Amino acid sequence: MIRVGFIGLGNMGLHQVRAFAQAAGCQIAAGVDPAPEMRARFAQEYPDAQLFATPQEMLAQGQVEGVVIAVPTGYHQTVASTVLAAGVPVLLEKPMARTVAQCQQIIEDAERANTLLMVAHCRRFDPHWMSWGDYVTAGKLGYPILWRDASARPHANNWFMDDEIGGGPLIDGAIHNYDFANLIFGEPESAYTGALKMNPAVTAIDTGSTIVRYRAGHQLLISWSWGARGNRLADVIGPQGYIQLDAGGLPVDEAEKATHMYCCFTSVDDEKTLIKTPGRFSDMYIHQAEHFLACIRGETTCQSPGTEAIKAVAVAEAILRSGREGTVQDIRW
Ligand SMILES: NC(=O)c1ccc[n+]([C@@H]2O[C@H](COP(=O)([O-])OP(=O)(O)OC[C@H]3O[C@@H](n4cnc5c(N)ncnc54)[C@H](O)[C@@H]3O)[C@@H](O)[C@H]2O)c1
Repeated sequence: MIRVGFIGLGNMGLHQVRAFAQAAGCQIAAGVDPAPEMRARFAQEYPDAQLFATPQEMLAQGQVEGVVIAVPTGYHQTVASTVLAAGVPVLLEKPMARTVAQCQQIIEDAERANTLLMVAHCRRFDPHWMSWGDYVTAGKLGYPILWRDASARPHANNWFMDDEIGGGPLIDGAIHNYDFANLIFGEPESAYTGALKMNPAVTAIDTGSTIVRYRAGHQLLISWSWGARGNRLADVIGPQGYIQLDAGGLPVDEAEKATHMYCCFTSVDDEKTLIKTPGRFSDMYIHQAEHFLACIRGETTCQSPGTEAIKAVAVAEAILRSGREGTVQDIRW
């Protein structure tokens, strides 16, 4: 059993605890949060775990063999660096940090301590997204590819909308797309963004539309708002066909709906194929937990290291810079 400690017991922290509780070979050993009500909520579900107000108190006990960090993004670097300096493997929530400079610091600290640094880019462990990603990388859509994703829903004015701590939807929400696009398209090159402020009360850019270009010639078109409500659009198009990230109107077995996820491939001849993947949305978090535990045991190579995750933050940083300056920005890390 690997003894895992959890720093940050808010929404995502508790979600992670529950995923690790379902992963084989894990003991939920400790929870850390400065807020007493968050510690109390965790303790109700996991009464055998130890409770701490600070990461330092937990690390001083020397009991945990792995740590999951789910604190607000602007604090990722200080907390991750503290844990890595103690030589304890880290699974750090996405985005890896608020800035590329903070990511570089975390990578340096992990290298100095020679300790595992994995970033929780959960879509790398999502059988649903991997199923359509495989279609793209196998060339079934032809070349080049355009991934279009638009999403809009209002967001509470909390730390997520603070420019320094959360950075708004163009880093926090869309980072899953940036990391997955890096995985299937390769190195990102430049970004051009139109930014808008729908909610004048927040400091972060709350709405933006951007085109990210990849060295291989593909593009990501992304438009996210946490300041307005709108329709969702998501598809992946190429000269040989396109993918919808749902069943695309094809009939699905009602009894299987709870245990399967669907995409639809439409060929250039308008022939539709259902891509059916066993599993549920929540499974990716369990697969991610199992992968982190396997990495700690030395059984596998990390599929989501900090050296990859920094590139997604670099995409976000270029997007936000472009939104502020109104010009095309190189993506640098
Ligand atoms: N992978 C995903 O799908 C996903 C989804 C949501 C959030 N997240 C990420 O998870 C992280 C946390 O988000 P959340 O929604 O849980 O936020 P949240 O506000 O619900 O919880 C954050 C918690 O961290 C605690 N905290 C603050 N500073 C701390 C410190 N120094 N040490 C210990 N605890 C501290 C707070 O008291 C709070 O309980 C963010 O980076 C966010 O972007 C990831």
